Amino acid sequence: MAQVSDVADNQSSQTKTLRIARYNPEKNSEKQFMEFSVPVEKWTTVLETILNVKQHQDHSVGVRYSCRQATCGSCGMIINGKPRLACFTKVSELDSDVVTVEPMNNFPIIRDLAVKFERLFDTHHKIKPYLDRDDTELESDAKEFLQSPEELEQYIQFANCIKCGLCNSACPTMATDSSFVGPQALAQAYRYVADSRDKGKDSRLKIIDESHGIWRCHFAGSCSQVCPKGVDPAMGIQLLRGYMLGFRS
Ligand code: SF4
Ligand code: FES
Repeated sequence: MAQVSDVADNQSSQTKTLRIARYNPEKNSEKQFMEFSVPVEKWTTVLETILNVKQHQDHSVGVRYSCRQATCGSCGMIINGKPRLACFTKVSELDSDVVTVEPMNNFPIIRDLAVKFERLFDTHHKIKPYLDRDDTELESDAKEFLQSPEELEQYIQFANCIKCGLCNSACPTMATDSSFVGPQALAQAYRYVADSRDKGKDSRLKIIDESHGIWRCHFAGSCSQVCPKGVDPAMGIQLLRGYMLGFRS
């Protein structure tokens, strides 16, 4: 019969190499990688390895995180070449002895792994991410704007966006057009346009119908492949185009 100590041995930590991109735009001219040995259990996340380095080896590593549970959207980075959430990626699932972490693509770097989110939030704000209505009061005895399950189904998947920016980081159009509104904002434009309680469809469609707007999307689909919340921005963009071309109303 297996003893508790045997179980513990089977799960004992391994050592992996963590390569962290280091870059401080105020001090260095180029990105460099620093390597650290880190202890890893089966369940250790990439974020935990970075925090281990900060605690025991180099406290100066720049990284942004908060919730540690794939909710706040703070810890997006490139992990072994792919945009992922560091708190939602276990080292064991990478199947590699070396874990390389870099800042997200298509975002200006603050320091090391931390990037600026201003543009993401600006474009998100630009598409009016709220129910847009003129009325200021509910009708007489109504307590809320009711929706049927079918009406909710139209947009609920898109309401799961945590604004992590991984989709924008993966987008090839974002890489070549720094003014492109981006998959995150477009998916959210769809989220509100498809909401039966919203009355701002026409103004929202007008906002994204510009030279760096929805038509710049080439439908590469890379945004949807990396989304950790199953939002599927690429589908949202196609559905949004349906409204603009008059196939949906
Ligand atoms: S659509 Fe997905 S990948 Fe893009 S910001 Fe929202 S949650 Fe992140
Ligand atoms: S720390 Fe909040 S999403 Fe990773």
